Amino acid sequence: MSRLVVISNRLADPRKPAAGGLAVALGEALNQTGGLWFGWSGTVVEGGTPGEGELHTRQAGPVTLATVDLCREDHDSYYHGYSNSVLWPVFHYRLDLADFNASYIAGYRRVNQMFARKLLPLLRDDDVIWVHDYHLIPLAAELRAMGCKQRIGFFLHIPMPPPLIMAAIPQHEWLMRSLFAYDLVGLQSEADVAHFTRYVRNEGSAEAVDEKRMRAFGATVVVQSFPIGIDVDEFTRLTHAPDAVETYENMRDEYSRRRLLLGIDRLDYSKGIPHRVGAFRELLDRYPENRGSATMIMIASPSRDDVHAYADLRQELEGLCGSVNGDYGELDWMPVRYIHRMVARKRVPGLCRAAAVGLVTPLRDGMNLVAKEYVVAQDPDNPGVLVLSRFAGAAEQLKEALLVNPYDPQGMADSIQHALQMPLAERQARHQKLMARIQEHDVHWWRKAFMDALQAAAD
Ligand code: F6P
Repeated sequence: MSRLVVISNRLADPRKPAAGGLAVALGEALNQTGGLWFGWSGTVVEGGTPGEGELHTRQAGPVTLATVDLCREDHDSYYHGYSNSVLWPVFHYRLDLADFNASYIAGYRRVNQMFARKLLPLLRDDDVIWVHDYHLIPLAAELRAMGCKQRIGFFLHIPMPPPLIMAAIPQHEWLMRSLFAYDLVGLQSEADVAHFTRYVRNEGSAEAVDEKRMRAFGATVVVQSFPIGIDVDEFTRLTHAPDAVETYENMRDEYSRRRLLLGIDRLDYSKGIPHRVGAFRELLDRYPENRGSATMIMIASPSRDDVHAYADLRQELEGLCGSVNGDYGELDWMPVRYIHRMVARKRVPGLCRAAAVGLVTPLRDGMNLVAKEYVVAQDPDNPGVLVLSRFAGAAEQLKEALLVNPYDPQGMADSIQHALQMPLAERQARHQKLMARIQEHDVHWWRKAFMDALQAAAD
């Protein structure tokens, strides 16, 4: 059997619980098969040489971890710069927040070239290579230029924007052309595939070779959607483990006379967190019976603090939460409990289980695995209700959630009220259907579907 080589900007020890959705999903996929996981070590070396970084390898169970340090200049231009100040905002439709500083692209190319150089000697002839996310779009083209002949697939965890938004990036054609160095490009949703196809038809004069294969820029690539899933069995186990049960019981006792609404995100402008606070204010205003009762817990874990847009968001959010609490709070009830820290992963299922409503309301999101985790943590006999943004990739699958438009605070408040008042039989019926779909398309299905398609694409 071929060895699996996974490459992603951020790694996690697959034996330990990780924070971001990508690291969790990849850790779970690799734990099944074993293999090599390659990426940034997480270390930034002050005063190092651009394009140079020390390689470290270590074994973690069945997985070899190979990681490279980044010098400050590379880190700032590749990670904060091109990845998170150009690609992230544009791919999430936020042209207003993009910073097209011309110096970033050089760092992005330099780090991708260095990753290719460091990885090449570690590869075996029959390896299957799986590259992840927007930090590493040109990696296959760099590897191919160095003679790499192995099968290479790419999975984009974030949305693929429509062509006219993509076209705002000065290097858009180079980026999209780079994707044609892969054998397979995997995207989260059918909407993403449609955007990709439209772009290459308009800008690359693409022709469809068959249903999934496109020819453009002088090369051929297979493009398909593979909605990422969670490890349902593992999350169920975590839900019934002592830490999660203790969290659940504490929350249930503390909120016995109240209704809990829960949001768990990275503090990111794509997640629509201020819009959610606006909708909650609207709920208290339009449906006063919720005053003194409905409590919104918002866990927004720190993320990318050195990028301006993130620091601005933090300030805005603190102001908004403070004003709702100031306007509506009572001596024995605070409407919003905002936590700007990471909550231990082992506590997350307990929190989800205690919440009558799960609020997953991003302005744009590739998938959003918290939506799936919230559903899996519910008691089938008395499940809570998922309120889900129609702009999350998960909305293509999770049709039995209450789908909302996060830009419409009144509409969102009405949906939250509907969720709070939903009869038990309807909650159960919706939960059953959501569970079935999440179970069918779990993380193991995702890995296998991608690997099978990669095998077929390269044949
Ligand atoms: O899923 C999108 C993503 O950017 C991943 O690539 C990343 O690991 C995660 O979000 C968390 O972001 P960061 O690695 O920048 O902390």
